[in-house]
Amino acid sequence: MHILLTGATGQIGAALQERLTRRREMSSLPLVTLTATTRATLDLTRHDAVCATLRDKRPDVIINAAAFTRVDDAEQTPERADAVNHQAVGVIAEEARKIGALFIHYSTDYVFDGRATHAYTEKDTAHPPNSYGVSKKKGEDAIRAIGGPHLILRTSRIYSQRGRNFFLSMLAQASTLSPLKVVNDQFGTPNSAAWVAEKTVELLSLPMEKLKASSGIYHLSAVGRASWLDFARAIFNALPQYAPQAIIGVDTPTYSQSCPDYAPRPPNAVLSSRLFFDTLAKSAPPTWEGVFEDFIQPFLRKKGEASR
Ligand SMILES: NC(=O)c1ccc[n+]([C@@H]2O[C@H](COP(=O)([O-])OP(=O)(O)OC[C@H]3O[C@@H](n4cnc5c(N)ncnc54)[C@H](OP(=O)(O)O)[C@@H]3O)[C@@H](O)[C@H]2O)c1
Repeated sequence: MHILLTGATGQIGAALQERLTRRREMSSLPLVTLTATTRATLDLTRHDAVCATLRDKRPDVIINAAAFTRVDDAEQTPERADAVNHQAVGVIAEEARKIGALFIHYSTDYVFDGRATHAYTEKDTAHPPNSYGVSKKKGEDAIRAIGGPHLILRTSRIYSQRGRNFFLSMLAQASTLSPLKVVNDQFGTPNSAAWVAEKTVELLSLPMEKLKASSGIYHLSAVGRASWLDFARAIFNALPQYAPQAIIGVDTPTYSQSCPDYAPRPPNAVLSSRLFFDTLAKSAPPTWEGVFEDFIQPFLRKKGEASR
């Protein structure tokens, strides 16, 4: 199997590269080749380069972990988000169809406006509340319209030890901001990049015919519902040495006053991943607290080793 990965320097992309390399060494995957690309080696907005690379490499599977993920910036420059999250995705999907590759692509909970009170399923209609969500939804639509074999994995609230994410931003802000103000009226489910990558790699053990026949959108998330404040509290409970002197919850309108560029967010962005776990994973989804625990233990070990 030849896998071409985009966005290998991103949160999920780096976790995928690490896992795919490890699995290949352990021979638990029928991997022949991994071509990991970054923006420096394959800029997705250069359509000619994307087409030439895919035609040259002819991978069996394309995993697109690249995206324009800066939600607030997308509001100011929607064309930049569209170029990566929509137009480039359409180009990859078209080439994937032509070479018969399975296209695995990530999307987001931010395709939903968040007005529903239930956990969103794949059957719910997407109404993105911001430009980032619009661009991601257009990317999904392009893949589906082109119609090659594809798995669109919508996930949410990704954290890791790299890049820009809520976990790292809490650790950075805790020592400088007092009290630390955290939004308490937007609910979703935090997921580690490592866990999302692990679930993606596990998929590749399934027969290719089954994966291709299962084409569609799937929600890939742990179970549970947490506000940003709930997640912040879980972070500082696990890492009390980083805890701020005071932490207070604020509602979105109050928070937006101090961040004028803050893009609209869904108040409820909880995803139901029952379809993924019933049809593709055949296992029970973990809780977000369990996934966070699995993330934090190696983080603590690394910190301990660094301070020795
Ligand atoms: N982060 C979240 O909370 C979240 C939530 C839901 C869904 N998702 C989805 O999950 C996927 C991965 O997210 P992530 O958090 O891992 O993203 P990320 O950490 O922001 O990484 C995105 C990657 O895309 C690359 N990239 C950006 N523009 C590119 C271009 N023109 N050509 C090639 N590569 C480009 C970036 O490279 P540079 O570093 O060089 O810019 C980076 O490696 C995305 O589809 C995202 O929409 C993320």
